[in-house]
Amino acid sequence: MSYIVTATTGHLGRLIVEALLARGVTPAGIVATARNTEKLSTLSDIGVRTAALDYEKPESVTAIVEPGDVLMLVSGSELGQRVQQHSNVITAAKEAGVSRIVYTSAPNATTSDLLLAPEHKATEEFLVSSGVPFTILRNGWYTENYAGEVSKARQSGEIVASVGHGRVASASRADYADAAAAALLDDSLSGQTLELSGDRAWSFDELASTIGTLIGSEVAFRNLTPAEHAEMLTGFGLDEPTVAFVVGLDSNIRDGLLGETSGDLARLTGKPTTPLAVGLAPSV
Ligand SMILES: NC(=O)c1ccc[n+]([C@@H]2O[C@H](COP(=O)([O-])OP(=O)(O)OC[C@H]3O[C@@H](n4cnc5c(N)ncnc54)[C@H](OP(=O)(O)O)[C@@H]3O)[C@@H](O)[C@H]2O)c1
Repeated sequence: MSYIVTATTGHLGRLIVEALLARGVTPAGIVATARNTEKLSTLSDIGVRTAALDYEKPESVTAIVEPGDVLMLVSGSELGQRVQQHSNVITAAKEAGVSRIVYTSAPNATTSDLLLAPEHKATEEFLVSSGVPFTILRNGWYTENYAGEVSKARQSGEIVASVGHGRVASASRADYADAAAAALLDDSLSGQTLELSGDRAWSFDELASTIGTLIGSEVAFRNLTPAEHAEMLTGFGLDEPTVAFVVGLDSNIRDGLLGETSGDLARLTGKPTTPLAVGLAPSV
């Protein structure tokens, strides 16, 4: 029986492999997969098996999965394509006899107005109706999503957004990866859906002051209306769909859709989530 992890050329997939190793899985017990296996040489060098897996190619899944394997399906990054891609993987893995699929979803995916929820909702529904044992990890925001704010704040002395008083219960990718590894190793989580997020929901005033402390100079949070935000981004040359997406996500934050703190992540890993300042420190 092996643990097969998808998208291991990506940040999260790679960290999931590392977390499985840290939790005592032998390198030979893991199959790290990606579209381009040449990028996985540092994993194969330490004995992790590697294989090509493309969500667009169901045959690449059936070629790898053996009966009884547990599959970590990391959600894809190609917006608009993901329901078909994830369905391809789930169907092929089922045919090959996978024993359980762990999937990375989004907060309250089946009921949320979060802009990114619909593809996760459809994938969750497909997975549940497939009849394959599953564990759904509804990942909240990564702290690393704000890494770019550090250099912007250094230049301008401010964080600019249209989130109002909204809060974000972010955690580091390494936290979500360790939770994924814990879920892969625990068959008793079959049939469960977990809401993963950071232990504390922070405000954008706190984000600004945290970054200010990290860079050693004052940083203010400038809160715009959605219309002002859209105008500013349009002025930077962003196209209309991108502007709508960025402003829409800030509205989701203002509405509290990324601020829930269930405690599921810390319970799953057995340790507190990484504080905001610690998660942002590598970006300084
Ligand atoms: N919770 C959050 O804050 C947050 C933020 C951003 C994204 N996400 C979601 O979480 C996922 C993992 O995050 P991340 O930071 O690791 O993203 P990432 O670094 O951008 O990695 C995305 C991974 O998806 C792979 N991928 C894309 N299309 C694929 C396909 N057709 N077949 C196989 N692999 C494919 C990419 O492979 P290649 O190297 O071949 O391109 C890459 O390995 C993302 O894909 C996205 O669904 C969550």
